[in-house]
Amino acid sequence: MADKSKKEEIKKHYISASESRKIAKENSKAINYYEKQKKRKVNVDEFTTQMKDDKNIVEFEDLHTYFFSDAGTVKAVNGVTFSVPAGSTVGVVGESGCGKSVTSLSLMQLVQAPSGQIVSGSIRFKADLFKRDGRGRKIPVYEKTTDAEGNETVKLDEKGKPVIKKNALGGNTYEMESKVVDIAKMPTEAMRSIRGREIAMIFQEPMTSLNPVFTIGNQLNEVGKLHIEGISKEKVKERSIEMLKLVGIADPESVYKKYPHELSGGMRQRVMIAIALLCNPKLIVADEPTTALDVTIQAQILDLLRDIKTKINGSIMLITHDLGVVAEMADYVVVMYAGKVIEMGTAEDIFDNPMHPYTIGLQKSKPTVDGEVDKLYCIPGYVPNPINMPDYCYFRDRCEKCTEKCSGEYPAFIKVSDTHSVACYLYENKTGGKTKKNGRK
Ligand SMILES: Nc1ncnc2c1ncn2[C@@H]1O[C@H](COP(=O)(O)OP(=O)(O)OP(=O)(O)O)[C@@H](O)[C@H]1O
Ligand code: SF4
Ligand SMILES: [Mg+2]
Repeated sequence: MADKSKKEEIKKHYISASESRKIAKENSKAINYYEKQKKRKVNVDEFTTQMKDDKNIVEFEDLHTYFFSDAGTVKAVNGVTFSVPAGSTVGVVGESGCGKSVTSLSLMQLVQAPSGQIVSGSIRFKADLFKRDGRGRKIPVYEKTTDAEGNETVKLDEKGKPVIKKNALGGNTYEMESKVVDIAKMPTEAMRSIRGREIAMIFQEPMTSLNPVFTIGNQLNEVGKLHIEGISKEKVKERSIEMLKLVGIADPESVYKKYPHELSGGMRQRVMIAIALLCNPKLIVADEPTTALDVTIQAQILDLLRDIKTKINGSIMLITHDLGVVAEMADYVVVMYAGKVIEMGTAEDIFDNPMHPYTIGLQKSKPTVDGEVDKLYCIPGYVPNPINMPDYCYFRDRCEKCTEKCSGEYPAFIKVSDTHSVACYLYENKTGGKTKKNGRK
């Protein structure tokens, strides 16, 4: 009997060759479908939409991003809904593997394809798009001049060509239009004009993001030339050096000529931030920007990000598993667990009044300066297998407060105040309820 149940347990974690073949066939069908969708040629109206709340710059709604692996479908992001209000910093926290990076990569359309695909849901983003003529070309804005009769005409250069007006960055000016786009439905080609220009990303490990065989200046200029069309060689160099100065590099002219290996970790991260800022993005996505750095450099980089957010009047989506970083930086906090958002609110809501047992556990496992404990708290158990997620609350098997109800359907989001929501049966009939205080450090 014991042998039988042991065999069944082992069977649960293995798949037969025929099952594997079946999965591979289904995966290839699904992948082909999503890849075709990304390559389709569509009119901009097909992916324009409306914001639910005009104060937001990004709204994720019921986003599902899956990886079609040979062992089955990994539901890395499984129905994520949250917003980034314009001008704010939103911290996304949760333990390793909960889908923080995949959420941000979905926003950039950088999920590792072909196995990784945005399957459903929306990512609404307030974008400034280039207006296009009937043939899909950008419409330049020309310099004007007044002729002898006092009529305004287009200014011509020495070859008789109309002169395109320069913008504040030194590039060509084109007619623009503000539209809300759904990035989840946008073809790859259309996304190219948003990625880097409107939304920039700072990755965790600058050494793997910077190219070791090109100088820092080269890499900055490359991004400038790509996104600021019509910029001259001199202007792009000027802009690159200006950005290095902005991120606090003391000797920008000499760093401009250096290779990545000649810089310290903190300097490399500053260079990454300089690259991200080159095109004046509205939104910066920082995925664990300080994890690879020591504490003093970490504090400097966080100060820099805060400073820059004010200077560019932008928004930051800050991904981290470090609650201390979030407490210092974020206006709003989104807590993720196993591909879902389980609690969200203002930083005060989450730090002073955490409600979900997982958030409470996360807070308890954070070391404090004044707390005298022999051993740090550790949330017992493991995250469920992402290939076979249960129907009930994903935290149930680790939860100390679970009740009979918790074995039913996955709990819906409950709004406990205007800003604070939680997905847990414990708060079903409570609105505006307060649990114990857990002071922000
Ligand atoms: N390229 C990939 N192929 C298959 N599965 C992947 C891939 N990238 C991520 N995943 C899976 O997606 C899930 C979410 O991963 P993600 O990288 O978003 O986690 P994370 O929250 O950013 O974790 P960390 O804090 O460690 O960076 C994990 O289960 C991971 O195994
Ligand atoms: S719904 Fe139940 S199992 Fe899930 S976190 Fe709340 S109390 Fe725990
Ligand atoms: Mg990550």
